[in-house]
Amino acid sequence: TEPPPLKIMISGAPASGKGTQCELITQKYGLVHISAGDLLRAEITSGSENGRLAKEHMEKGQLVPNEIVVMMVKDRLSQTDAEQNGWLLDGYPRSSSQATALKGFGFHPDLFIVLEVPEDILVERVVGRRLDPVTGKIYHLKYSPPETEEIAARLTQRFDDTEEKASLYLYIYIYIYIYVFLCFSKVKLRLKTHNQNVSDVLSMYDGKMVPLFIIIIQIKGNRPKEEVFTQIDTALSEMLQQRNTDPSSL
Ligand code: AP5
Repeated sequence: TEPPPLKIMISGAPASGKGTQCELITQKYGLVHISAGDLLRAEITSGSENGRLAKEHMEKGQLVPNEIVVMMVKDRLSQTDAEQNGWLLDGYPRSSSQATALKGFGFHPDLFIVLEVPEDILVERVVGRRLDPVTGKIYHLKYSPPETEEIAARLTQRFDDTEEKASLYLYIYIYIYIYVFLCFSKVKLRLKTHNQNVSDVLSMYDGKMVPLFIIIIQIKGNRPKEEVFTQIDTALSEMLQQRNTDPSSL
């Protein structure tokens, strides 16, 4: 019989490269990518009350309350595509209570990937990040520049990466100062929130509090994206091979 589809969680600080690696993982392994941040941004775009509340927290670099996030993620994981093809959950859980909630609904990952990147590099990545609103692809002005002029012209920044651009020409120097300051302070806040939560979540999945067996891999994210992916790919291939040769490991 076919082994059940893979279920993976990927965790890491803001801009550690979760979205970038998820794109590469889904291309190769065909899992359904479910990003808590993307679900929340879609909710904001829909104009719902939950979206409005979520935006308030996201702008401050805080976690969105569990009442909003947990059901949103649970509903998405329950959809047929995720059940049939397996899933890659990005940016959830971010606290032990979120991990517990998901476990209560019967969702259990086979693998928990943690991307580790030093803080100074994270800040540089956030400030240079751009998004293609047409394809949803993530770029970086320095590390992953757009392929064509046409794409470059339509790239946007995420609202929690930057601030509104006003009085750009008149107050250019003041603007740059404030812009950099705001970018950095928002990033720093998101980093602080992340650091507070990561150890909590890891302790949930280290086998002491969760009786089921989960493999945790810590990946060095401070390398070119292809090299980061090679580390993940090696771990995934080994895991799949083991599942095929030793079904009792499931
Ligand atoms: P979310 O959307 O999850 O954002 P995040 O955690 O801040 O992570 P990012 O999307 O910023 O970064 P990433 O790790 O995906 O990096 P990327 O690949 O883009 O969450 C946003 C907010 O929503 C949170 O702050 C919170 O408020 C809320 N939220 C989300 N989940 C929640 C939850 N479970 N509970 C409560 N609230 C929640 O890469 C970044 C840049 O670096 C890109 O430009 C990329 O091109 C570049 N890059 C990537 N890899 C490399 C590399 N190896 N080398 C060089 N550059 C690279």
